[in-house]
Amino acid sequence: MAERASLPSVGEGIPPRLLVTGGAGFIGSAFVRQLLGEGEGFSVTVLDKLTYAGNLANLSPVDSHPGYRFVHGDICDAQLVGKLANEVDCIVNFAAETHVDRSILEPGGFIRTDVLGTHQLLEAARQARHSRFLQVSTDEVYGDVAAPERSHETDLVQPRSPYSASKASGDLLCFAYHATYDLPVLVTRGSNTYGPYQYPEKIVPLFITQALDQLPLPVYGDGSAVRDYLHVDDHARGIAAVLAHGVVGEAYNLGRGEEPISGMMVAQAVLRLTGGSDNLIQPVLDRPGHDRRYALDSTKARGLGWTPEVSFRDGIARTVRWYEERRDWWGPIKSGEFLDFYRRNYRPLAGSAPTS
Ligand SMILES: NC(=O)c1ccc[n+]([C@@H]2O[C@H](COP(=O)([O-])OP(=O)(O)OC[C@H]3O[C@@H](n4cnc5c(N)ncnc54)[C@H](O)[C@@H]3O)[C@@H](O)[C@H]2O)c1
Repeated sequence: MAERASLPSVGEGIPPRLLVTGGAGFIGSAFVRQLLGEGEGFSVTVLDKLTYAGNLANLSPVDSHPGYRFVHGDICDAQLVGKLANEVDCIVNFAAETHVDRSILEPGGFIRTDVLGTHQLLEAARQARHSRFLQVSTDEVYGDVAAPERSHETDLVQPRSPYSASKASGDLLCFAYHATYDLPVLVTRGSNTYGPYQYPEKIVPLFITQALDQLPLPVYGDGSAVRDYLHVDDHARGIAAVLAHGVVGEAYNLGRGEEPISGMMVAQAVLRLTGGSDNLIQPVLDRPGHDRRYALDSTKARGLGWTPEVSFRDGIARTVRWYEERRDWWGPIKSGEFLDFYRRNYRPLAGSAPTS
């Protein structure tokens, strides 16, 4: 593997004092660990509601860093957000309800956080006259993309799930704040992300942790829906590159750009790496409105000097090893609330065995 590019440092475009909302989640915590671990001179305030997906253990590698501060709170709390915005130079917004399946079961929380919460942050950034506002968004806003097409930043947003519709709404509010108030917004649209510290409801850690426990791997339908998998370190590095060098008012796709990988291929890779039997693959009723394919063209972000460095082959092997070693992190999560969600969400196809 090529030597890793270092993060831009203060003076190279990233403002020195950042408010990172949702920084106790999967990608936000990777961004904070990178920034405080490698960057120089940054101070980072993490604001996080600590929903089921937020976990302070994700930030324990940096919790004694002098530039780190944690605030427990909600991005919808205008007073709190306004106060914190006045203490920093920019906001990087990772905070969101993020799981498509949960958005189908209970969409209200997605509208609240992903739309109304984004609006509160934009207002606070406008009042505080920030020099940057970065909204972390998703390739899902483009909706289903037929092969061999790839989504470009200028494409229409055509979201098809409550999750992707709420994220697309957040993006549109950001662009409206740029056009109307000249707020210097940037939007990143990352592809399906995997790696350490990901809550085990998402496909990669779900399959890994199920396989490690010799439990079924629930594969939607025939397992042929494909995604462009991006390692979390590459995603976090891409966000830093856009924050440092992006043109305000614009969106940037962040994907590996290789041939997308199907759900069945993820299951098979995980079983090969964990030594599990293919018999653990459990077809389940497909997700309603399931987008068949996402694929990004990320030429624009690559033009900023960003290059994804982790291949799926290496990344999935590293991720399996991490979950093998960190049962202390995920073991306690896979109980109570998680099991309740799992039972509500996955229904075996007629004639197959139960899912857990
Ligand atoms: N995971 C992916 O594959 C992926 C891909 C592309 C984009 N994204 C986007 O990246 C961002 C981060 O995703 P993730 O996978 O790390 O999510 P995550 O679910 O792991 O973390 C979300 C974090 O936001 C916090 N949060 C939720 N509601 C909040 C609120 N109202 N106020 C304050 N904090 C709140 C949670 O406690 C949690 O720490 C999201 O905006 C998501 O849409 C994710």
